[in-house]
Amino acid sequence: MSIKNIMSPSILAADFWRLGEQIAEVKKAGEEWLHIDVMDGMFVPSISFGMPLIESIRKQTDLFFDVHLMVQEPERYFEEFARCGADLIDFHIEATEDVDGCIEKIKSLGKKVGIAIKPDTPVSEVMPYLKKVDLVLVMTVEPGFGGQKLIPKCIDKVRELRIVTDRIGLTDINIEVDGGITVDNVKEATDAGANVIVAGSAVFRGDIGENLKNFNGKL
Ligand code: DX5
Ligand code: ZN
Repeated sequence: MSIKNIMSPSILAADFWRLGEQIAEVKKAGEEWLHIDVMDGMFVPSISFGMPLIESIRKQTDLFFDVHLMVQEPERYFEEFARCGADLIDFHIEATEDVDGCIEKIKSLGKKVGIAIKPDTPVSEVMPYLKKVDLVLVMTVEPGFGGQKLIPKCIDKVRELRIVTDRIGLTDINIEVDGGITVDNVKEATDAGANVIVAGSAVFRGDIGENLKNFNGKL
């Protein structure tokens, strides 16, 4: 079974004054996903946005909401994010003491589950959970800020993860890369085995339609 390549544009890099318009441009470019970065000022130094924003954009688009929680003890908020319109909830393995509990809770809310790892967290940490999740998010920068440069060793982790998942028969698991992805390096990520591509600055800086067309030309 083969999995499809998906762009998941991160609205962290959007111009919030024109957010509705810019999300419409993403949709018009033919995309299906939107990446939504929630930062709590604890798990990561920065604070981004939360439920009210998701709730209001949910009313205007049917895009698939890929909600990346950079939040300490994310289990405190799963119900709220599910209610606000998340379709997929990605939580960090480093942020909770109860990974199995998190997976079960998200599933019980009828949402897809993503498990995320920071650059210094080895792939071995996610092994016990691979059969239970829909997606593994491999951070390719330190989480917390958009516009950083990709850390090359993270691409090796993607490669390792795809080999392991193929070996155990999880040929349709999604592997997502997030951080520092550009039109010039996206092919490295997909060649390594990533199929869900997050890009913030490289999509929202300049002409969104044109940027997405360039990305899709490489997928
Ligand atoms: C970083 C976020 C990313 C960020 C990516 O902590 O998780 O999703 O928006 O932004 P770029 O593509 O600009 O690196
Ligand atoms: Zn993200």
